[in-house]
Amino acid sequence: MSKPTTNFLLSLIYVFIYSTSEAATYNVASFGAKADGKTDSTPAFLKAWAGACGSVSSAMIYVPPGRYLLNHAVFSGQCKNNDITIRLDGTLVAPSAYRILGSSGYWLSFRDVNGVSIYGGTLDGQGSALWACKAAGKSCPNGARSLTITNSKNIAINGLSSINSQLYHIVIDDCQNVNVQGVKIAASGNSPNTDGIHVESSSAVTIQSSNIKTGDDCISIGPGTTNLWIENIACGPGHGISIGSLGKELKEAGVQNVTVKTVTLSGTDNGLRIKTWARPSNGFVKGVLFEHAIMNNVENPIIIDQNYCPHGENCPHQVSGIQISEVTYKNIQGTSATQVAVKFNCSPKNPCTGITMEDVRLTYAIENQAAKSFCSNAGGKASGVVEPTSCL
Ligand SMILES: *[C@@H]1O[C@H](CO)[C@@H](O)[C@H](O)[C@H]1NC(C)=O
Repeated sequence: MSKPTTNFLLSLIYVFIYSTSEAATYNVASFGAKADGKTDSTPAFLKAWAGACGSVSSAMIYVPPGRYLLNHAVFSGQCKNNDITIRLDGTLVAPSAYRILGSSGYWLSFRDVNGVSIYGGTLDGQGSALWACKAAGKSCPNGARSLTITNSKNIAINGLSSINSQLYHIVIDDCQNVNVQGVKIAASGNSPNTDGIHVESSSAVTIQSSNIKTGDDCISIGPGTTNLWIENIACGPGHGISIGSLGKELKEAGVQNVTVKTVTLSGTDNGLRIKTWARPSNGFVKGVLFEHAIMNNVENPIIIDQNYCPHGENCPHQVSGIQISEVTYKNIQGTSATQVAVKFNCSPKNPCTGITMEDVRLTYAIENQAAKSFCSNAGGKASGVVEPTSCL
């Protein structure tokens, strides 16, 4: 056969496979899901997932408009294809009676999957009853994270909203190549442990163009995170963007190559934070760039805290083993709600090295009082306009 003919036949085969794959749609309604917000639709969703996961070519799961109660769902691999799209026009609702999820830890979870994209939709964790239980100091279950992706790769989350999670809203753990874009997260500013997005033990994760308001960290970065890119994020209320807590364990994977770019923090407890336990550990933080950040009345706009020891838990009089190096703050502007706008409180055993500040201008929100910086065991250099004056 001549080459053009072969190419032509290959295109025909391609068109055939492509059009067949377009057709493989699994609508949860046709598996019995009820959009009434009160019938548990977990079995219907799991059947749709089994169909899509068992398909040898690309598959789509479609969730029509409406509210679907899901009591607890695990979507697991290994799948026969690596191109599953989940398109949500509806809202997935967690059981409001928090004892149903109890201390299971997870509400919706994807495990061992490759090539899953989630578009649109809303996750409603209905966490307020659990928060109230915790606030009242009663004995309550720990709660569940809304969406957890574990041991997976090539994942996209695009245009998803997540509200009122019991615990963390989105967790990416032990994953590679995850792209989160255009996500909206909202929970009350005093809801406990409702972190927006938590990443750990993962590589090549990007989080972009998202808006996150919670009662805890906007984005938290745990041990073993490498090649993380965060860009164009609005945070607040909440606790800001945090690398840590790290160093709780003696043996722990390090955090390396993190970029946080073009972020706005409004009314948050912290801005750009690195936080480690005051305990021995072999972990580290190396190669972090914080660039183009705007602070609006943030309590601790720039902070490294290596003396974290809540309730004196197994760490009084100990120092952090985490080595922090090569951290750059570039073009950070705005207002601090406290006088110490820049705080580098590093480990006496492993001082911070290679901190760079360039064009940092933070003012104390209270007029006529200059902002200050604080350094302990921190080394590096400052260039450009740096205000408050650098103590490096
Ligand atoms: C750092 O991470 C980014 C993605 O966030 C990646 O493009 C870049 O190649 C990484 N750099 C190194 C040296 O691995």
